[in-house]
Amino acid sequence: MNAHGKIKNTLDNSFNISNKVCVVTGGTGVLGGTIAEHLLKNNAKVVILGSNQERLDQKVNDLLEISNHVLGFVCDVLNKSQVEDTCDKILEKWKKVDVLLNAAGGNMPGATIAEDQNIFDIKLDDFKKVSDLNLNGTLIPSLVFGKIMVENGKGVIINYSSMAAFKIITRVVGYSASKAAVTNLTEWMATEFALKFGDKLRVNAIAPGFFIGNQNRKLLLNEDGSYTERGKKIINNTPMQRFGEAEELNGVIHWLISDAASFVTGAVIPIDGGFNVFSGV
Ligand SMILES: NC(=O)c1ccc[n+]([C@@H]2O[C@H](COP(=O)([O-])OP(=O)(O)OC[C@H]3O[C@@H](n4cnc5c(N)ncnc54)[C@H](O)[C@@H]3O)[C@@H](O)[C@H]2O)c1
Repeated sequence: MNAHGKIKNTLDNSFNISNKVCVVTGGTGVLGGTIAEHLLKNNAKVVILGSNQERLDQKVNDLLEISNHVLGFVCDVLNKSQVEDTCDKILEKWKKVDVLLNAAGGNMPGATIAEDQNIFDIKLDDFKKVSDLNLNGTLIPSLVFGKIMVENGKGVIINYSSMAAFKIITRVVGYSASKAAVTNLTEWMATEFALKFGDKLRVNAIAPGFFIGNQNRKLLLNEDGSYTERGKKIINNTPMQRFGEAEELNGVIHWLISDAASFVTGAVIPIDGGFNVFSGV
């Protein structure tokens, strides 16, 4: 086999994610649930963490239709000892954790200022809550599962930043600031893990643009499915002229998890139909 052939074979296998144990926080949510399905279809082992038992049971049942390599736990990402207990249970069953997807997160109504309000109307309590969820809700699972990855000598963490961290979205203050913090934390952790623990530990993030989810549906769509005024503005600023489908995150996440991305760390990848690069003109 010539050198060229060798490289080709390496690349072909490098997208294989079979048997990787992948923990998905927010796995009962729209985006977390969608990637969980994709991972199972690609022969990974999947653990979903959610905050509500009923939604968790429902999602685990749905996922069992795809594969029986699935576990689910109710686990508050802000409660470190609960995350540690959950991690112990996963290790008991599957002995390792290869991948952590920090998909738990989101916005809260009080952390967004209303149309007729301004900065001085920010509700500090809600600002703190949303900051806690997005930033500490990413950090705490990374500390718990990251430690196992370090002990195992390899692992991948993928965080969920947002286009709101790249471009200013009016009114959405707490969410945006905390997602910008997630971007920075991703870059910091990538550096820390690689410098201190080696090149087999990688930390990256995706920055989704606008996908219809539980938290933004009412903001973007009217009851009859047409775009709200805000929805229209977003579409006009998206060169692809549409919202994303949750499945459109799968390819990038799959690649980041796989050995095909073995030299990629500290990247925050926009998946946004071009929103980030468009001037609007
Ligand atoms: N949908 C979008 O357009 C979009 C765009 C950019 C970024 N994101 C980010 O992607 C991630 C997933 O978004 P989504 O649209 O699937 O949201 P979602 O609301 O459908 O899912 C979020 C999940 O997080 C869970 N969660 C919330 N607090 C928790 C806690 N303390 N402990 C454990 N779980 C908790 C919720 O139960 C829910 O299942 C979020 O971080 C979100 O900010 C979404």
